[in-house]
Amino acid sequence: MIIEPRMRGFICLTAHPKGCEQNVKNQIEYIKSKGAIEGAKKVLVIGASTGFGLASRITSAFGSGAATIGVFFEKPPLEGKTASPGWYNSAAFENEAHKAGLYAKSINGDAFSNEVKQQTLDLIKKDLGQVDLVIYSLASPVRLHPVTGVLHRSVLKPIGSTFTNKTVDFHSGKVSEVSIEPCSGDDIENTIAVMGGEDWAMWIDALKAENLLAPGATTVAYSYIGPSLTEAVYRKGTIGRAKDHLEATAFTITDSLEDINGKAYVSVNKALVTQASSAIPVIPLYISLLYKIMKEEGIHEGCIEQIQRLYQQRLYTGSDVPTDEKGRIRIDDWEMRADVQEKVAKLWEQAVTENLEEIGDLEGYRKDFYNLFGFDFEGVDYKADTNEMVNVSSIA
Ligand code: NAD
Ligand code: NA
Repeated sequence: MIIEPRMRGFICLTAHPKGCEQNVKNQIEYIKSKGAIEGAKKVLVIGASTGFGLASRITSAFGSGAATIGVFFEKPPLEGKTASPGWYNSAAFENEAHKAGLYAKSINGDAFSNEVKQQTLDLIKKDLGQVDLVIYSLASPVRLHPVTGVLHRSVLKPIGSTFTNKTVDFHSGKVSEVSIEPCSGDDIENTIAVMGGEDWAMWIDALKAENLLAPGATTVAYSYIGPSLTEAVYRKGTIGRAKDHLEATAFTITDSLEDINGKAYVSVNKALVTQASSAIPVIPLYISLLYKIMKEEGIHEGCIEQIQRLYQQRLYTGSDVPTDEKGRIRIDDWEMRADVQEKVAKLWEQAVTENLEEIGDLEGYRKDFYNLFGFDFEGVDYKADTNEMVNVSSIA
């Protein structure tokens, strides 16, 4: 069939298999162009199908020649209905990895569940013996707690008072004012339950209990801080509490890995267009201004550039991993540069519907958004009849 983007609000209901494949191939080419990284050889990526997790899987495989197991929650294709992009990404990744002679297997299911954890442990035991790197890159709005059976929903709300600021509908370019009511009830606890560190620790405990972590194993989870502009809705909001919890969990995991000399890190990454971030009010306006400035300064990065730098210049330099005063790895350093933030803050003051196309990078934002779903890639024939069932046998 001919596959076109079909938008509903902030999501796209379709995905293009050839475009997703192109996305994966472009990322692989980038990693190859940057040379070998002396990194981990057996890697588990939880949240491996899109965004930072996919970039991590690609960097491990094609930068360090690693065997990878990827865990994710994606929709396979049905006759006449496309898969979710992460499914096509993963099918394409496995193909490319296998062509390169690299071990790559995937588990598609709920990473919060005991069943998927056990399936993953069994696969590691059978095929890899142990892993030496575990990347934790889940972004989810809900978590069914495996012990209590409670379904937790995360919310993106300020804490304490209503937050009013500018936002943009990136499809139309219309800038408007938005007010977000403060959280209430159990919103904070629920958001921490979904996006905090409990599940990360459960994964590491389960791996360790079955002796599946190699001596000196490392685990890394991803966090975000961002500027004062977005603080009320992000870092000082409900999601920020979850990130505080995630960051604190790195220390408890490190303690629990002392006997195998293992270490847990949180890496603070830069703001990027992903399915998760485009749904947060205010953030898309910030990102479109940030992209403009970072591109002008020649320091713009996507997920793959960020993770390549994380591996090569932070994790695997041959000496100690550099961290900030709170023990966090910072690859948001260029985003947070004072000169960059000053320029973004100035543009923020000026931004209105009439000038945003010019002073912001709405075009770049939209392109990245379409790219998430495999659209708008060079070298893909979008007019061609395309088989949505492509590679359907490769992922269990
Ligand atoms: P994403 O939506 O692109 O990726 C989420 C991944 O989690 C996908 O592989 C998805 O399949 C998987 N997933 C979701 N629910 C699952 C479940 N129940 N079981 C198994 N897999 C599941 O998101 P992303 O932006 O790459 O985010 C990854 C991490 O990076 C998050 O912790 C996020 O907060 C952080 N981060 C994001 C940004 C940003 O700007 N996007 C910046 C800094 C840090
Ligand atoms: Na991810």
